[in-house]
Amino acid sequence: MTETQPNQNRTLPDRDAPIGVFDSGVGGLTVVREIIRQIPNEKIIYFGDTARVPYGNKSQETVTRFSEQIVRFLRTFQVKTIVAACNTVSAYAMEALERDIDIPILGVVKPGAKTAVSATRNGRIGVIATEATIGSQIYTKYITELNQNVSIYGKACPLFVPLVEEGLLEDPVTDEIARRYLTELIDIDIDTLILGCTHYPLIRSTLGRIMGERVTLVNPAYETARKLRELLTGRNLLCETPPGLGSNRYQFYVSDKADKFVRFANSIIKYGILSAKTVNIETY
Ligand code: DGL
Repeated sequence: MTETQPNQNRTLPDRDAPIGVFDSGVGGLTVVREIIRQIPNEKIIYFGDTARVPYGNKSQETVTRFSEQIVRFLRTFQVKTIVAACNTVSAYAMEALERDIDIPILGVVKPGAKTAVSATRNGRIGVIATEATIGSQIYTKYITELNQNVSIYGKACPLFVPLVEEGLLEDPVTDEIARRYLTELIDIDIDTLILGCTHYPLIRSTLGRIMGERVTLVNPAYETARKLRELLTGRNLLCETPPGLGSNRYQFYVSDKADKFVRFANSIIKYGILSAKTVNIETY
């Protein structure tokens, strides 16, 4: 078994190097799922900060510090690129992360904004996300850069993350809370809704049912994976050969107990994830 090992001595990453993906917890797995779908030959090192989730109610300084630690950890695997598969990190920490890094790093907000601008027909876009992402106005900024004539309506939905983490994906409680959050967006007549938190695609059917068929739900993961493929292709870093049998192509790390994460991961990525390792991320 040729497991990718942490390595402090950096050389230039090559095509066979893994991609680093991280999130505050399990939500980023919805982005991993999309990456696997679109570029199946790639190796992935995933880190979920399960000890410190949620990020969505923390300060910019804290989220940036956590993100910097995780990037340092991922870089020990000689990753060729990093995906911040967390809207809160993308809203709060991208500038700081980009400043300090010499490999490409992608967030999920820009790709989500782009998809929404192409999808809207009536120029009314809703964004649902954590308090941090909504408060940062980051979607408004990127959408307005693409099209000044679009109106954006943000709504923080802080109860969705714990509901998803509890596995209440199809449940009357989730349904009721979603109705309360979404009523004002329905009244405003949006025709496009960005799922601006990596957990939300997991309750997509509930959200879709409540918003109705007329509203397009945008999952930024799709466009993020597409952009990642484009970026790797442009730099001649796309892995063309499938990793061999037993090459341990997906590795998962967490900052707290691994068992719940593994159960959750298996329900999202149907690849038989057998284990995740616990890492003391504070030491990075
Ligand atoms: N992954 C986070 C996001 O996409 C949601 C969970 C959290 O608050 O940490 O914003």
